[in-house]
Amino acid sequence: MSEDLHKLLACPRCDKTPLSEAEGRYRCDACKIDFPSIDGIPWLFAEPQASLGEWRGRLQFSLQQLSQDVSRIDAEIKDQDLRPLTKRRLERFKSATEYHRRSLQKLLQPIDVQSLHGTVESYLALRTRMPTDQALHTYYTNVHRDWAWGDAENAASLKQVRAVLHDNAELGNVLVLGAGAGRLAYDLHMQVECTNTIAMDFNPLLLLIAQSVTKGEPLKMYEFPIAPKSLEDDAVLRTLSAPEVVRDGFHLILGDVLRPPFAAQSFNTVVTPWLIDIVSEDLPIFAARINGLLKTNGRWINFGSLAFSHPDRARRYSPEETKAIVAENGFSDPYVSDSTIPYMCSPASRHGRQEKVFTFSAYKERDAEAPARHRALPDWIVTGTEPVPLTPFFRSQAMTTQVYSFIMSLIDGKRTLQDMANVLESQKLMTRDEAEPAIRSFLTKMYDDSQKSVGV
Ligand SMILES: C[S@@+](CC[C@H](N)C(=O)[O-])C[C@H]1O[C@@H](n2cnc3c(N)ncnc32)[C@H](O)[C@@H]1O
Repeated sequence: MSEDLHKLLACPRCDKTPLSEAEGRYRCDACKIDFPSIDGIPWLFAEPQASLGEWRGRLQFSLQQLSQDVSRIDAEIKDQDLRPLTKRRLERFKSATEYHRRSLQKLLQPIDVQSLHGTVESYLALRTRMPTDQALHTYYTNVHRDWAWGDAENAASLKQVRAVLHDNAELGNVLVLGAGAGRLAYDLHMQVECTNTIAMDFNPLLLLIAQSVTKGEPLKMYEFPIAPKSLEDDAVLRTLSAPEVVRDGFHLILGDVLRPPFAAQSFNTVVTPWLIDIVSEDLPIFAARINGLLKTNGRWINFGSLAFSHPDRARRYSPEETKAIVAENGFSDPYVSDSTIPYMCSPASRHGRQEKVFTFSAYKERDAEAPARHRALPDWIVTGTEPVPLTPFFRSQAMTTQVYSFIMSLIDGKRTLQDMANVLESQKLMTRDEAEPAIRSFLTKMYDDSQKSVGV
């Protein structure tokens, strides 16, 4: 492991620095916790085993879903009445999905997904209600933009960052938070003056792809455009590759930006591309967290559109409030560049956007009050050795789930909706008049769900 990187790291649980290191893995001697390494990428989550188990389950679930998709398409192909073009499209899509499954399986080998054997139904039932940005494929299009067809978009992104650097383009030690598939971090490292560049994300698929291409090992992966331009564009095999092998000093870290595993005040530059509006943490707290990572006179560079979507309207900040929040948290008045750039305009898709991006740079002038550690999961979840509390919410969920499973068990291919209403009445769960419309709404929802498209 690089000595430069080692000096920048700290324990994401207790902030102790430096971490000790043996055989390419890090360890916190204070917490007595070992952090795994995923194909050489340090896995620096506050609860490394719990988060690894969670991602493993999530990845396994995605692989199983892809297998189910293949079976479903296979069944559709058997329909004798298919027009030849449709049959051809389905056959192409089936073989692309099979290929995609195999390439994911190979890429994700370091996560040891194969060691899991649960059924897809068990994973479906136990799947955590994860934020949408944690699903395996949520940012899958970014991979193709970053490393296949996105030259114009990637250049426009870098240009925006340069626009807020003024004459001072020496970035020193750079941390890119929420780096995704890593192209902006790579471009900064290769085209701007950076000493070390650390690209951090919590999605292992994205960072494993970034690792392969930046090391000069191209990957062949399918893109599945949302609005294919033609039949052939339904699934397009792309070669993902970097313009050249990344130079020394470029590092990938798997971890949570809300529990950043870095020593305080160790970076000259922190970059947040398309991130501040999607993290669950309120901007004033996240801004203070970024302040804590920077040296005095270090710079925060933000890039991306602002689309805060917090349930509380008060937290859906405008550009004016965003600037004020940055300045309130120990930074200079942000210097802003507002510009429109193309976004996710795949050549194979009819869908593509223009985004008015809000790029700013702000110097750290003083320390902000250190925010409390981001609340990770409670111990009864992480350790698994304490009783699971029977909260009012859990109690009500347990009862709802029982009713749900009872109604589902009444579906036997023979009973009518009215028969089911009679059973609910005989079990004294509802009156007959209440039961019939309630079951109708329930089955409508089930039916709608069954008609929704699945797949990549
Ligand atoms: C909108 S995408 C932007 C990706 C990349 N910066 C780009 O411009 O293509 C947001 C990224 O942040 C990552 N992310 C979201 N929340 C995170 C968290 N708490 N810790 C680490 N990464 C996170 C996601 O996995 C995703 O790659």
